Amino acid sequence: MSTFGTTFCDSFVTASFEQGAWQAPSIVPLAPIPIHPAAHVLHYASTCFEGFKAYRWDDGKVYVFRLADHVLRMQRSAASLSLPVPEESLLSGMVVDLVLRHADEVPAPPSSLYLRPTLIGTLPNIGAAAAPSSEALLFVLASPVGDYFKGGAGPLKLLVDDARARSTEQLGSTKTGGNYAAALGPTLEAKAEFGVDQVLFCPGGDVQETGASNFLLISDDEVITKPLDSSFLHGMTRASILTLAADLGYRVNERNFTVDELLQWSKSHEAALSGTAAALAPVGQLVYRGNTTAVRDGTAGPNTERLRKALQDIQFGRSPDTHGWLTAVNP
Ligand SMILES: Cc1ncc(COP(=O)(O)O)c(C=O)c1O
Repeated sequence: MSTFGTTFCDSFVTASFEQGAWQAPSIVPLAPIPIHPAAHVLHYASTCFEGFKAYRWDDGKVYVFRLADHVLRMQRSAASLSLPVPEESLLSGMVVDLVLRHADEVPAPPSSLYLRPTLIGTLPNIGAAAAPSSEALLFVLASPVGDYFKGGAGPLKLLVDDARARSTEQLGSTKTGGNYAAALGPTLEAKAEFGVDQVLFCPGGDVQETGASNFLLISDDEVITKPLDSSFLHGMTRASILTLAADLGYRVNERNFTVDELLQWSKSHEAALSGTAAALAPVGQLVYRGNTTAVRDGTAGPNTERLRKALQDIQFGRSPDTHGWLTAVNP
C-alpha cells in the first residue's frame, strides 16, 4: 500500500451551504473542486476537518469507528471557526453513503479505509477577515491506508519542547489547518537538528501533545494523561484507550503533569502517542535540552502493546464492542 493519505477512492461526497441552508449531498467522481480565488478559506483559514477509519472484519462486514463522536468534534470545530455547522444526520449520512459505495475497497486488517471529512469557507470576499464565511463546502474523502507499524517502525523519538505551544488557547481543541501549519516549522527544525519523529509540545513545562497525536504515560497499573481543556485536541483514540484501560483494571488518571515528572516517569515506565493513524505508538526516546534519554529501556513496553491490542481487537471485530463504538455499514 502507498504512503498514508496519497491513494483515494475514485469518488467523494460533497454538500454545499448556500443562502442559509445545506444543499442535498451528492457522490461525484473525485476531481479538483472549482474555488474562487477570493474564497474565505484561502485567505482567512476558515477550515476544519476530521480523520477516522472504517475497518473490515474477518466476516467481510465493514464498520466505522466512533462515527458519532467524530461528527460531534467536527461540529464543535466548525462552530469555533464560525463556519456553518453541518447537522449530525447530514455528515453521518455522507460518510455512511461514501463507505457503502466503496465497501469493496475497504482493505482487510491490519489496513483500513481512512475517512477525511473537510469543511471550508467558500464566500468570495477578501474583505471578510473579521466576518464569517456564509457559504461553505463540506466534503468527505476516502483513502485506503496500510498498517502504520508495517516496515518495522520502532518506538518513536520525541523532542520535548518546553517553550513552544502547538496551538493557541482559543483553537487548541479545534481540528483546523492553522494548527498544523503552526506545528510544522518547529517539527521540521527538530527533525533536522535532533533526528526526532515528532515534537512534544510542553509550553511552560505543561506536557500537552505532539503535532498530530495525544500523549500518555503508562505503567503496569496506571494510565496518566492531560485532562481535557481548550489547549489540545480531544482525541478519540485517547478517550477509547482510557475507557479500555479502566476496563482492564488500570487506574486512569487525567491530570496535568510536567516535563520533570515525565523524565522521572520515563526511567522505569512507558510513554505512548495515541491517534487514529497509529492507534497507540510506543515512545522510546526523549530529547530534552540536548540530552537524549531512553523511555524505560527504549523498547516497546508490554502495557502499551496490551492497550493497543485491546483497541484494535474491537476495531477489527476480534472482541466485542461493549461500548457501542462501531457503526455497521453494510448493504
Ligand atoms: C493534534 C492532534 N492531537 C491528537 C490527535 C489524535 O486524535 P484522534 O485520536 O481522534 O485521532 C490528532 C489526530 O487526529 C491530532 O491531529
